[in-house]
Amino acid sequence: MKSNLETKQIKSLYVHIPYCEHICFYCDFVKVIKPKKAESIDQYLDLLAAELQNYGSRLDELESIYIGGGTPSCLDIKQSTRLCEMLSQYVKKTGFEFTIELNPESITKEKLELYQKYHINRLSIGVQTFSNPLLKKIGRVHDNTQAIEMYLLARSLGFKNISLDLMYNLFDQTSADIAVDLQMIEKLCPDHISWYSLIMKESSVWGKRKLNLPGNDELFDDLVNTGLEKLGYQRYEISNYARANKQSVHNLSYWNNSLFAGVGVGASGFEYLDGQYYLTSNKGNVLNYKKEFEKLSTADYYFQILMMGLRLVDGIDLTQTDNKKMFDFYEAKITEQVKLGFLEISAKRLRCTKRGFNIMNEILITFL
Ligand SMILES: C[S@@+](CC[C@H](N)C(=O)[O-])C[C@H]1O[C@@H](n2cnc3c(N)ncnc32)[C@H](O)[C@@H]1O
Ligand code: SF4
Repeated sequence: MKSNLETKQIKSLYVHIPYCEHICFYCDFVKVIKPKKAESIDQYLDLLAAELQNYGSRLDELESIYIGGGTPSCLDIKQSTRLCEMLSQYVKKTGFEFTIELNPESITKEKLELYQKYHINRLSIGVQTFSNPLLKKIGRVHDNTQAIEMYLLARSLGFKNISLDLMYNLFDQTSADIAVDLQMIEKLCPDHISWYSLIMKESSVWGKRKLNLPGNDELFDDLVNTGLEKLGYQRYEISNYARANKQSVHNLSYWNNSLFAGVGVGASGFEYLDGQYYLTSNKGNVLNYKKEFEKLSTADYYFQILMMGLRLVDGIDLTQTDNKKMFDFYEAKITEQVKLGFLEISAKRLRCTKRGFNIMNEILITFL
């Protein structure tokens, strides 16, 4: 039966593949060790298919898909083919961005060719660091040679949009290690880089052991930012950098507050149903999860626009209707932060100043 709910079109789709072949010490993402039985993964793919079907025509105007994990590249060829077949039906427009996250140890030529066949046009490779001792220390099972070889293989097959994930503030990591990472970036020339500061998550292996962070955050932050800038990467979000306009269309949709659907265990979404905005969250276990809906009040919605948009270096476009309403709602508080030198309004955009960018959480608290 066709729903009579008022709906708005969803712009992007996140698909979570929760399987990993090993567990990295720092990670608290939703993941399980890949089961030996293929049937269990087939059942998960059945759940994804059913969830997608439930969305019906609300996914007709997608502009991007992101397959993340977990480790999407650990699916075998048969499972990867099924996943790609399921998703490629949504790839319609030219300019559509279709990304998959890959771990170097599970990339193969056959899988890359399969991704290409199904229009995946952006790869995000989890490199983390080019230092082999550090990779071991953080619980990764690949080494730098594998990461470099797989990156070059993807390039040789014609992938024109490759992002690398890196981390800093790792235990024992030195400025010299960051310099080596920057040299490798210069050699490889990826189109995009996500370079995250390590966050100690309570439910990660390290978090459970109650390890404390080394606290070199600011020093490394500076090295990464100035280093990447020198190499021609433009920082466009707190942890994201791009060359030649290769910003992630998918992630920009989150930060610009577009509607997105999340399918698979642990995935979250932002949806509009019956005149209301909702945050969605798929709660439960891998083969038994359920979508929960959290209604956003008008104030919650405006806070979300602010919180997501201030992550962008260019900030929030105040010519857009809802953004302007958010501005009017918070005008007094915004004016206060502008006077303090933490926010600025320029070319009809509201954004953090350089000083404000470093203390964004403190700024956001004043809006609660
Ligand atoms: C959850 S992983 C999924 C992709 C893939 N399995 C991988 O390991 O690259 C996505 C990225 O999140 C980042 N990440 C995970 N845990 C983190 C943490 N505790 N602090 C900072 N970044 C983290 C890593 O850079 C990782 O590449
Ligand atoms: S970082 Fe990636 S590979 Fe490591 S446990 Fe997390 S999701 Fe799995």
